[in-house]
Amino acid sequence: MHRTVMLGASVLASSLVCAGQSNAGGIAVEKLRCEYGTSQAIDETHPRLSWVLKSHERGQVQTAYQVLVSSSENALAADKADLWDSGKIASDQSIHVVYAGSPLKSRQRCYWKVRAWDKHGNASPWSKPAFWSMGLLKASDWNAKWIGLDEGETRGDEYRTLPARMLRREFNLERKIRRATVYMCGLGLSELYINGRKIGDHVLSPGLTDYTKRCLYVTFDVTKNLNPGANAVGAILGNGRYFAPRTNEPTVMVTYGYPKLLLQLEVEYDDGSTRIISSDDSWKLTTDGPIRANTEYDGEEYDATMQADGWSESGFDDSGWQNARLVDGPAGALRAQMAEPIRVMETIAPVAVTNPAPGAYVVDMGQNMVGWCRLKVSGPRGAKVTLRYAERLKDDGTIYTDNLRGARCMDVYTLKGGGTEVYEPRFTYHGFRYVEVTGYPGALPLSALEGRVVHDSVARAGEFSCSNPLLNKLYHNIYWGTRGNYRSMPTDCPQRDERQGWLGDRVEESKGEAYLFDIALLYGKWVTDMEDAQKENGSVPDVVPAYWLFYTDNVTWPSATVLMPGHLYDMYADARILKTHYASMKRWTDLMSGFLVDYIMYKDTYGDWCVPPESPELIHSKDPDRNTAGEFVASAWFYHVLRRMSSYATILGKTTDARQFDELAGKVKTAFNAKFLDKAAGKYVNGTQTSCVLPLAFGLAPEESKPKVFQRLIDNIMVDHRGHLGTGLVGGQWLMRVLSDNGRPDVAYALAVATSYPSWGYMLDHGATTIWELWNGDKADPAMNSGNHVMLIGDLCTWMHEYLGGVAPDRSMPGFKHIVMRPRPVGDLTSAHVRYESLYGSIVSDWKITGGKFVWKITVPANTTATICVPAAGPDAVTEGGNPAGSSEAVKLVGTESGGVVYEIGSGDYSFTAVLRGAR
Ligand code: BGC
Repeated sequence: MHRTVMLGASVLASSLVCAGQSNAGGIAVEKLRCEYGTSQAIDETHPRLSWVLKSHERGQVQTAYQVLVSSSENALAADKADLWDSGKIASDQSIHVVYAGSPLKSRQRCYWKVRAWDKHGNASPWSKPAFWSMGLLKASDWNAKWIGLDEGETRGDEYRTLPARMLRREFNLERKIRRATVYMCGLGLSELYINGRKIGDHVLSPGLTDYTKRCLYVTFDVTKNLNPGANAVGAILGNGRYFAPRTNEPTVMVTYGYPKLLLQLEVEYDDGSTRIISSDDSWKLTTDGPIRANTEYDGEEYDATMQADGWSESGFDDSGWQNARLVDGPAGALRAQMAEPIRVMETIAPVAVTNPAPGAYVVDMGQNMVGWCRLKVSGPRGAKVTLRYAERLKDDGTIYTDNLRGARCMDVYTLKGGGTEVYEPRFTYHGFRYVEVTGYPGALPLSALEGRVVHDSVARAGEFSCSNPLLNKLYHNIYWGTRGNYRSMPTDCPQRDERQGWLGDRVEESKGEAYLFDIALLYGKWVTDMEDAQKENGSVPDVVPAYWLFYTDNVTWPSATVLMPGHLYDMYADARILKTHYASMKRWTDLMSGFLVDYIMYKDTYGDWCVPPESPELIHSKDPDRNTAGEFVASAWFYHVLRRMSSYATILGKTTDARQFDELAGKVKTAFNAKFLDKAAGKYVNGTQTSCVLPLAFGLAPEESKPKVFQRLIDNIMVDHRGHLGTGLVGGQWLMRVLSDNGRPDVAYALAVATSYPSWGYMLDHGATTIWELWNGDKADPAMNSGNHVMLIGDLCTWMHEYLGGVAPDRSMPGFKHIVMRPRPVGDLTSAHVRYESLYGSIVSDWKITGGKFVWKITVPANTTATICVPAAGPDAVTEGGNPAGSSEAVKLVGTESGGVVYEIGSGDYSFTAVLRGAR
């Protein structure tokens, strides 16, 4: 069977994980990555190359490297670097080395390898080769035409749907083929078929953008799918967001037009001659295919009796199809989709089926998941099976759909009859745990449905576990909630008629996501979307891409445009993202600075969104004691933005800008404390948890007021809220860290493991398998009550990894070039384990308490160093590998701090044992 290989770097690189064993004491070069290891063809003409060094020796560093890049595999094997030979470069840089060879051209294929010199000056063997390819870099590379049919009836404004359009064309290839590549942009969503087979495993492709600004094309290597002689190519176009599912409900939604296709199939014959088959009006089109309706919110209707078997094979009778029309293309520039495509990432079996009403079965997937169901059925031609998706059940066991608002979340399959039929939708997705099945011929067996878990194919970045089962369950819920909301942009929710890229939900929370998944490309794309959404005056909307037009010029939500690049810098040392977007960040910051009145920022729309309300049916609290003043939130947050801008300006060498941001920040700080701080009482404004958290998190609180403000926070939690959190989206993004950084990790831990309302544990105890939008999600009004939101995770996931596990980046040497390892053995916790796959390689922190001793195993990747803090009373209480710690070259004692004894270590595996601080 033919298998299509996607063009790109990771195809070869992924096989490198176990490559070239490190020679004893030396280093090996592995895991070569171009632009974060994308498997897609790229259009970055100065791509960044990264590799991982492996060594069994402690304290190992790279002292020099050499990169070879060739235009063919054979040339590379013979060390003929016709594109780039970097020569031996004395440097410890092993990530983001910028390609500096011959200019890269459209369609360029690049094979590369690396060797590195270790701390002794010994060279590693050459790495195994890796590969990346270039897409089409210039508009003039495209001779294909946009085709489609710019007409068709919808079923009204509230249910805007069209049948999927199918397009095809046949062609003859005269000779043997050396290589064939398809470049394709099918909007809103598309699938490619050649000679009867679906090409690639992308689903819901391409990625979402503002199509007036940019449109993403995908690239497939289809060499193995074509034969000399007769061939056929076909595409199916779904509506996606291009033909928006709504235009006026529940808010104004932008729509771009009818689905359309741009496709270029480039064939290179064995003799070097070429042939291009492009989309044009010689293609045939039908709207009479089996996908009768498809919208993201409402589902798909598939009528198998209308299936045109063989439609993407040669010899098919398309005389009933019309000619495709040449149509106006979208205004957006064509750019290569560099982020990994959405794929079916997992298939799960349901756990139960019930029959709560005559003719209606309810299947329980056992997990609130995102994607769809694959249905297996046999029955008479024309029978209709309807699947309706829901997150919850009513008391009578039927599905509860009130919180889906206007989204119908329903797939309908009409059988063609005559045997077993297998169906899964293409151009929709659902957020659900339960599926109601009606119309199924006979009794529904569990095996009739499978859950197809669908999201951006981001790699797992690590793992967390600990001795507390509740925290492990929370981690599970965070993991499922996060993956379920990746839809080529991070969404707020996956189920109701919304599913938008609300910036505020991720602004700080996303830092924690980076420990779960490799999000560099996905979030890098989203930052680009933010810049695309920016108005000329600098305004950034609350929702990006701006499918809903919310240009409200508040601080907290759009601040993602400044803060998100900073996370990518911290986690991946991505200085390019700061550089590329600096002008846009500055434009937004300058716009917002203009709104300051006496250095106080009044521009706030959402306050501390979704604090736990006073009565269970409320969505938003009306109690002034629970809410934090908007101008307080906005001013504090804006101060943080200014500080971050100053740090970026410093990194980029823009000293004047840095000084100006600092000066303004200083004025905001003074005004903030003058206006909001009651020094005598030691509290800000009304003393909510968020009012204490933000000034402490951002360094706004004057030194002398800090203890009181912090005490106020503790009192608010322990006394006013009897041991519960009272934060919403804003304060919750810093709460756990502020508690831990100011000496009360025990309170943070108590909040993390609490089970009474409001708490994450309460969600667990009430059946959540993801994280709810509302603390009172089991009882609140369904008008805004999703069972799968990430915003209330706040900084819990960051805290699990950085504070419990104790693995954090050091902003001054970002990307984990220098690692800060400071685990907090807290509460009844007796062990924690974190593994994180940094760009430098695996970082592991694994500790347990046995017999009053803290036993800590650490892995620090080659070419990095770590500052570690062992929770012991003093240096005398610490050993490493059985010897007094600090006595070896590899483990240097730095000193003691309140949390323990601090050492500086180089790369390698370590095993520390310490007599714990204080009695436990
Ligand atoms: C979304 C949120 C979002 C908020 C802001 C909600 O409907 O689901 O996550 O941040 O609106 O208004």
